[in-house]
Amino acid sequence: MSRLWRSVLDRLSVYDAGPPLEALADELGRPDLVRLSANENPLGPSPRAVAAINREVGRIHLYPDGGSTALRAALARRHGLDPNQLLIGNGADELIALIAAAAFEAGDEVVVPEPAFEPYTISATLAGARVVSSPLAGYDTDLADVRRKVTARTKAVILCSPHNPATTIIRRGPLRAFLEGLGEDSPLVVLDEAYIDFCDDPDHADGIALLGRHPRLIVLRTFSKIAGLAGLRVGYTAASAETIDRLNRVRAPYNVNRLGQVAALAALADAEHTEKTRRLVLEERAFLGAGLTKRGYTFPPSQANFLLVRVLDAPALRTRLMREGILVRDGADLGFPSHLRIAIGTHATNEKLLALL
Ligand SMILES: Cc1ncc(COP(=O)(O)O)c(C=O)c1O
Repeated sequence: MSRLWRSVLDRLSVYDAGPPLEALADELGRPDLVRLSANENPLGPSPRAVAAINREVGRIHLYPDGGSTALRAALARRHGLDPNQLLIGNGADELIALIAAAAFEAGDEVVVPEPAFEPYTISATLAGARVVSSPLAGYDTDLADVRRKVTARTKAVILCSPHNPATTIIRRGPLRAFLEGLGEDSPLVVLDEAYIDFCDDPDHADGIALLGRHPRLIVLRTFSKIAGLAGLRVGYTAASAETIDRLNRVRAPYNVNRLGQVAALAALADAEHTEKTRRLVLEERAFLGAGLTKRGYTFPPSQANFLLVRVLDAPALRTRLMREGILVRDGADLGFPSHLRIAIGTHATNEKLLALL
């Protein structure tokens, strides 16, 4: 085998996303099983996106627009960018892989605050780069430590705010100071903002607003969370036109499918669903948080659509909740043993969860 396959694959294993929801519900005999383990939208998809898919479905024999032109134009208007500063991906996941494929090679170092969203490390390792870990300070990204780890070999720093799984944010002031401190010949700074729509701390950073001043910044966003389109796989990156040009050279010709493109375009215009989702998540985050605190649980203040809750016996509690119809994630899989990562559900789900606890 080693003659055929890249040796780096020996250091990777298959990403384990768990069994399909439907199969697990069958196995447990719980058709009412609710998944709070994947940070999905508790309201479901944008209804406007669903209508757009229904209108488009008879055209799926035609290849999609390889450049996702209409979606890029709409996002450019929304964010005050040039369409050349945007690239749409098959989920933000694909964009992480594209950055690695376009920028990283053997000998490069990539600084990652850890624990981190797993695909950062997988993509960097696959590209032959060395991941330099910067441990979180408790639940917070330690920018001073990240800065200390940047050397002449550093090709990129990969930051996540709000952080998955730690739920905390990087504040605007410290992020700006960090970017300024990297100077003119800065490495690439990837800022993953998959959960930015759930921030209500006025101090949270907005990577897109920083792009004008920091051309080596690469911002990641997704339609999976706020728009409820996780099953369609649509994410985007905003960066300098030069960065986007480089990334376009490594992407597949038709990387985003036809239904995903029209759905994302419709969801972007669906202010009602966006606002409903945001309000529900913010209200329920406060409700669930208060209920957990009352029961003696602790967790960092969340700016995301999930909580990272410290518990005594995470595997046992996870199993008990699953048998009762609520699936949560064991933090041990994410670098936080003795924690459960719990997505914010509907009010009824959160009440049930609190009752079980
Ligand atoms: C931090 C973070 N980045 C990126 C993604 C991937 O998003 P997408 O569904 O667009 O691939 C996720 C998904 O859970 C995430 O948690």
